[in-house]
Amino acid sequence: MLSDNIGREGSRLTFAGHDVTALAETYGTPLYLMDEGRIRRNCRMYLQAFRSSFGGDSLPLYASKAASFKQMYRIMAQEGMGVDTVSSGEIFTALSAGFPPERMVFHGNAKTDSDIRYAVSVGVGVFVVDNEEELLALNREAGQQGIKQKVLLRITPGIDPHTYDAVNTGMVDSKFGVAVETGQAKAFVAQAIGLENLLVRGVHCHVGSQVFEEDVFQRTVDIMVRFMAQIRDELGYTLRELNLGGGYGTRYLESEKEQDIPARIAEVAQRLREQCEKHAFPLPRVLMEPGRSIVADAGMTLYTVSSVKRIPGYKSYVAVDGGMTDNPRYALYGSRYTVYHAEKDGGTEAVFDLVGRCCESGDIIQPEVHLPENTCRGDHIAVCTTGAYNYSMASNYNRIPRPPVLMLTGEGEYLAVKRESLEDLCAFDL
Ligand code: LLP
Repeated sequence: MLSDNIGREGSRLTFAGHDVTALAETYGTPLYLMDEGRIRRNCRMYLQAFRSSFGGDSLPLYASKAASFKQMYRIMAQEGMGVDTVSSGEIFTALSAGFPPERMVFHGNAKTDSDIRYAVSVGVGVFVVDNEEELLALNREAGQQGIKQKVLLRITPGIDPHTYDAVNTGMVDSKFGVAVETGQAKAFVAQAIGLENLLVRGVHCHVGSQVFEEDVFQRTVDIMVRFMAQIRDELGYTLRELNLGGGYGTRYLESEKEQDIPARIAEVAQRLREQCEKHAFPLPRVLMEPGRSIVADAGMTLYTVSSVKRIPGYKSYVAVDGGMTDNPRYALYGSRYTVYHAEKDGGTEAVFDLVGRCCESGDIIQPEVHLPENTCRGDHIAVCTTGAYNYSMASNYNRIPRPPVLMLTGEGEYLAVKRESLEDLCAFDL
């Protein structure tokens, strides 16, 4: 199986030790499942790796855009993680769950005045400032509210992480941050340290998502430490914090290799020590923002088959009761997934396109999946590794209610997000 939280008992698929068909029958489909133990294990893996590689004051921040709902923030608070937020909505959700604002980082390349006012007023710990206009607006707002706001400055290191275009963010021409290569980053820091209501703690960068290339973060460290040393030498200001963003990739297919994240982090720490030594720069406090690698493999989506269509000489379809509304990632990025039949195993297989119920041909969850030949209406299908960027990117296209999120534990299961009703769909219509 793809991951050690997926199994079979006889022909029945299990996830986190639970019979998924029984869950589908009890809670209905489409249904997002989340393995709470796996989320916690992934957090602890990061916390432990950070402690041993970067030392006690380092902190992994969960990038909550990957899956944002109140229970996720409660789990992150319990595990001692920080969180990365990108909107007033994520901040509000985190606060509603009791997450401490001082352990939040606020991102975004287009923060509005009201976002800034709200985040300052609730005491968000650190702003990652993306651009000059935001810098000035934040300085003004912090002054009005009578505080000195801690900030990191988002720097674009000019690194190509060789992942897919929609998530490449570290290149010089990115819409995010300010580029080192053009000299603008140095001017940005110089301007920021001169502003009276801001406390510039350090710099931030994020090069991309679903990163597998082994030396991407090391190359990023080279550029960032060189830049920090340049700032010290030329501006006489020491940047004490380095946030390297998120991006460690997750395995979606059995043919892909597993990534040893603690080993990667140890290599990054080693490179950081070397670079700091080379530039005689004090070791900064290190932060990172993993999203996908915390929650992706903790997720699975269950569907019920609506129809099986065979077009002789062409192709066959299995159509299910969800689709691009609960998982737009194949439609957007051509993302790959592993798909299992929940009740039938062994026997003759056939190749099907797994498609959704939306009224457009692009509504494909995954093309060319191998499923039992005798798959039929009423069967259940499981799509694996859907914990990241599925619920958080879901929509109501075609007025389809969003599925619930069911958390699975060793003792049982509980709903973290309830299923939307037809009435919910009209809740804002006047
Ligand atoms: N930090 C920053 C500033 C980010 O922009 C992101 C992701 C992360 C951290 C977390 O990256 P992760 O560890 O999850 O790779 N919707 C796309 C992914 C977009 C990622 C956006 N930024 C997808 O479904 O693949």
